[in-house]
Amino acid sequence: MKTNHRSTAAFLLTLCVFVAPALQAQTPAAIDAALKAAHTKYNDLAEGANADYIPALAKVDSRIYGIALVTVDGKVYTTGDITSEVSIQSISKVFTMALVMEESGPEAIKGRIGVDATGMRFNSIVAVEFAEKALGGPEINPLVNPGAITATSMVKGGSRGEIWNKILACYSDFAGRPLSVNQEVFKSEAETNQRNQAIGSLMYAYGFIKEEPARATDIYTEQCAVSVNTKDLAVMAATLANGGRNPVTGKQCLKSEYVPNVLAVMATAGLYDDSGKWLYATGLPAKSGVGGGIIAVSPGKFGIAVISPPLDAAGNSVKAQKAITDISNALGGNPYASKAR
Ligand code: DON
Repeated sequence: MKTNHRSTAAFLLTLCVFVAPALQAQTPAAIDAALKAAHTKYNDLAEGANADYIPALAKVDSRIYGIALVTVDGKVYTTGDITSEVSIQSISKVFTMALVMEESGPEAIKGRIGVDATGMRFNSIVAVEFAEKALGGPEINPLVNPGAITATSMVKGGSRGEIWNKILACYSDFAGRPLSVNQEVFKSEAETNQRNQAIGSLMYAYGFIKEEPARATDIYTEQCAVSVNTKDLAVMAATLANGGRNPVTGKQCLKSEYVPNVLAVMATAGLYDDSGKWLYATGLPAKSGVGGGIIAVSPGKFGIAVISPPLDAAGNSVKAQKAITDISNALGGNPYASKAR
């Protein structure tokens, strides 16, 4: 009995010393305050512009500004516009990469596409040429368009319909609700994506894509048009923060052991040529989309998402970068931060 008391006391002490400081920074009141402060601080910021190379994106209300944070124990915090939906765009690339890993393992991604940052724009053809001619192989990553279209081509299935249903089901599991496609955005991008079609063909010519490059590009275009709100994105991010298990629904969406592989690519390439600057400021694996969303993951703590359509020159939402940086730093989200003992 005495021993039991002693071990309970020791357990509580350990909890106070090691767990409390981490949780302390994340009390519900602290989280609410951090979200509201970031919303107020940047609400009137007028920097950046909607993407317009996909005509439908230029028409999206650039005042949409929503913030959501979901903890690994499934608590949801939101502020601002959390009902408006935007197209997921490049954030989708993370979850198709996850699906390919789930089906074929992380070595398939590394071996066929690569896991190295290109340091170039998300739709760079020079990056493909450089990898092929100067580096001599799979030296890009699944978060830039050439790697993402290749990843989509690697999803297993006998028909377009079967492949598509798997992709949509995977995204829906991560979000914790059935998602659907914004048909206007899909049509708009399908009519204007000649550059991505060229990239798909090039990846086929170099043997990265094994069959039907046009189909892979078309499915990739559809996955980018999946419609999401800020909370959906935050739950998707929180699933990655929580070892691949959706903390709201309890569904295991990705094997826990593969999560670090996904986060590693997000950390090095999630914000494209600005990934280094982003990591320097936050330490968070993250992913942006030209629809205006950014997700970021604080492993073991929370997933966070912000939607605000105006983008900077690299194609990343201006307000989302600022808001996530402030919130994460206020809540101790940087996984590289440690206290000297
Ligand atoms: O392929 C494209 O160009 C778009 N569907 C997605 C690009 C994107 O989201 C880049 N992100 N910041």
